[in-house]
Amino acid sequence: MSTPPKLLVFAGSTRLASFNRKLAHTAAELARAAGADVTHIELADFDIPIYNADLEARGTPPDVMKLKQIMFEHPAWIICSPEYNGSYTALLKNTIDWVSSPVKSDPAWHEGFKSFTGKVVGVLSASPGALGGLRSQSHLVPLLLNAQCWVAPKAFALGRAGEAFDADNQLLNEAHRKNVQAVIDQVLFASARLAA
Ligand SMILES: Cc1cc2nc3c(=O)[nH]c(=O)nc-3n(C[C@H](O)[C@H](O)[C@H](O)COP(=O)(O)O)c2cc1C
Repeated sequence: MSTPPKLLVFAGSTRLASFNRKLAHTAAELARAAGADVTHIELADFDIPIYNADLEARGTPPDVMKLKQIMFEHPAWIICSPEYNGSYTALLKNTIDWVSSPVKSDPAWHEGFKSFTGKVVGVLSASPGALGGLRSQSHLVPLLLNAQCWVAPKAFALGRAGEAFDADNQLLNEAHRKNVQAVIDQVLFASARLAA
């Protein structure tokens, strides 16, 4: 029997009622049902300050090291990206900046993009607006490509997210679920091919 693909899922929001956290939850459920070995993390669980090189010179925070390792261990990712001012959130940028910063004191982490290189990433977004955070994707994708990720051509932006989930945080519209599923399927397919 082959090993199930390891998929990391996270959202770029820590807001309690976050639409992107709900979307990440849905994506994790669908990916598990598709046979993936899913790690669904909440960025709120990681104690990561705003990046500052002076702070870093005193030692990379333990939770950054933890996140570097988790990301490194997962060949496939789904990121659910909120949109702030036509871009992705400061939380996502700060997280990626820390994780991509080389750890000078640790030879295992001299390569800044070690946690990113070769990852297959599916990008989802959700927003109460009509475009569903699509513009956040257009900024996030070049950043991921620069960090040596392979970004899946399929993506999904969930518009009018305020009306998209039921009381149990499930997507109401079957077409939306199919769109999320299509991104997951492509990410799992491509990461398996890259690993072959
Ligand atoms: C500072 C700020 C800027 C925002 N800019 C946008 C925007 O450009 N486009 C958009 O669709 N929504 C924008 N929003 C609304 C967010 O999409 C909305 O707050 C959403 O719920 C955030 O994602 P979350 O639910 O996952 O936390 C903005 C919200 C904030 C706080």
